[in-house]
Amino acid sequence: MSSLLETKISARQQALREQGLLRQRKVMSIEHSLDTNASTSSPRFVFEGRTYSNFSSNDYLGLSRVPELADALHLGAQTYGVGSGASPLVTGYSEAHFALERQLCSLTGHEAALLFCSGFGANTALMKTLFDQQDTVIADKLVHASIIDGLQDSGAQLKRFLHNSLESAERLLVRHQASALITESVFSMDGDCAPITDLSALCRQHHTWLIVDDAHGFAMLNAADANGNAHAKAAKLIDVQVVTFGKALGCQGAAILGSQALIDFLVSNAREYIYSTSLSPANAVLALAAVQYSIAHPELQQKLRANIALFKRLCLDANVPLLNSDTAIQPLIIGDAQQTLQVADELKIAGIWVGAIRPPTVPVGSARLRITLTAAHSAEDIAACAAQLAQVLKRVNIPRVSERRAEDEYR
Ligand SMILES: Cc1ncc(COP(=O)(O)O)c(C=O)c1O
Repeated sequence: MSSLLETKISARQQALREQGLLRQRKVMSIEHSLDTNASTSSPRFVFEGRTYSNFSSNDYLGLSRVPELADALHLGAQTYGVGSGASPLVTGYSEAHFALERQLCSLTGHEAALLFCSGFGANTALMKTLFDQQDTVIADKLVHASIIDGLQDSGAQLKRFLHNSLESAERLLVRHQASALITESVFSMDGDCAPITDLSALCRQHHTWLIVDDAHGFAMLNAADANGNAHAKAAKLIDVQVVTFGKALGCQGAAILGSQALIDFLVSNAREYIYSTSLSPANAVLALAAVQYSIAHPELQQKLRANIALFKRLCLDANVPLLNSDTAIQPLIIGDAQQTLQVADELKIAGIWVGAIRPPTVPVGSARLRITLTAAHSAEDIAACAAQLAQVLKRVNIPRVSERRAEDEYR
C-alpha cells in the first residue's frame, strides 16, 4: 500500500501532467569549452546529441563564457580556497566580499551592501526580515515569486497595484499607510520597465520606501526605466535595490543595497544571512571582475541593443506578435500552456531553444514563449529564430489570444 505522501505526490504530478504544467529538468552540455572563441560565438548547447541555438538564457551580455572571467574565478579559488567555509558572521566574510560590496555601492550610490548566494534568497530574506504583521506593503501585480514568498512569510498586509500603473499605485498609497512599495526594474517575464522615477516621486510624497528588484536591469542596457532615466546612482531614487549576478553578469549570487542602518539591521536579523554558508570568496572575486568587465566593455551593451532591434524588426516584418518590450526579454503570448509547449517543441525541431513559460510563473491564460537575446547572438541565428517563429506560428493551429486581451487578463 502507498504511503500518504506517495499518494499525494503522484496525484499532484498527474494533475500537473494533465494541465501541461509538469516541470522536468534537462541535462544540457556545451558545444565548446571556454576557448578564446567561446565568448564571441553565438550561444548554443547540446541536448541528447543535438545542437540548439540558445534563446532562453539570462546571460544577456554573454559574460558567462568570457575567458578572463573564468581566470578571475580560478584566481579567487587559488587565493581563498573553493568555499567560504563558514557563515558570514563566523569567519565566512572576506576581503573579497568586502571589495565586491564596496564596488556595488560606488556604482549605485547606496551606503552599504549585503551579499547572498542567490537573488531568491536575498529577496525572501529582505521581505521576511524587514516586514511584520504591522506593515502594509504595496507591490506591482507581476513581482517575482521570491518577493511574494518573503512577504507571505513576513505576515505583512500585501496590496497589489495594476502592472506599471502609477494611478493604481497612487490609489493604494492614498488609502493605506504603506511601509514600502515594491517593483522590478525590468520585469522578468514581460521585459518591460517600471517607471522608477515617477514611482520614486510618489513614494517620497507618501513617505514610503521604494524597493526595486533589479535582477534583470543591473549591468544591462543602460538600465534605463520607461522614462529613459539611467539607473546609475540608483540610490537617489531607490531606497533598497536588489541586484543579482546570475543574469547580465553571467555568474552567481546577489546583493541587497541600501542605507548603512538597513544593512546593519539585516546583518543582525536576517536568518538566511546569519545561518547560511556565505557566497564563496571565489564567486565574490568573479562577480567583482564581471562588474568591472561590463563597465570596461560598453560595446557589449551596444551589440545587445542592435540584436534586440534586429530581432524586433524581423518579427514585425514577419507578423510575429511580440509583446511591447525594448529589453533583451522578448515575450510572445500564446495563452494556453499546452499550446505554448507545442510551439516551443516545434522550434526545437528547427534547432532553436526558447523558454516556454507557463502558470504559475505567469498568470493563467498568458502562457508564453520567453525569447531572450544576448550580445553574443549572431545576426544569422537571430534571423533564423525570427523566420522559424513565423513559420511555426503559421503551421501550428493556435487560436492566438490577441496581445491586448492577454495583457488585460492579468492586469
Ligand atoms: C525578478 C527576479 N528576481 C529575483 C530572481 C532570483 O535571482 P536568482 O536567480 O539569483 O536566485 C529572479 C530569477 O529568476 C528574477 O527573475
